[in-house]
Amino acid sequence: MSMLKWSDSLSVSIAEIDEQHKGLVAMVNRVYDLLVSGASDRPQAIEVIEDMRRYSVDHFGTEEKFMDKFDYPEAPAHKLKHQEFIDKVKEIENGCADGTCILTMDILNYLSDWLVTHINDTDKKLGAFLEDKIE
Ligand SMILES: [Fe+2]
Ligand SMILES: [Fe+2]
Repeated sequence: MSMLKWSDSLSVSIAEIDEQHKGLVAMVNRVYDLLVSGASDRPQAIEVIEDMRRYSVDHFGTEEKFMDKFDYPEAPAHKLKHQEFIDKVKEIENGCADGTCILTMDILNYLSDWLVTHINDTDKKLGAFLEDKIE
């Protein structure tokens, strides 16, 4: 497992969504940094998980607003994937007590794999659908 790097191969062709994805990549890397520096049980761990949840809710809201505005046919399945991720992040958050979370490599792998897979398999389809509708 190494640092997650943004590259154009992750672009969904919609600037606003790409910018938010870069923010999510940066958050996954904050988890990575905490793990490699041995600080995964420090109070910063709960901060990054809380930030991840808040930022994900906002980001999914952006995508879902576009889906609703343009009657995206695959919206129900896509929204369900968003909800599953939020549920998982909340579950991680619930495992935090006394102001700290124990972050693990399993958690990092889940967050990183989910983000890359979701962008490639699900968000790119939405991007292709939106491409001639916005910008
Ligand atoms: Fe996304
Ligand atoms: Fe999405």
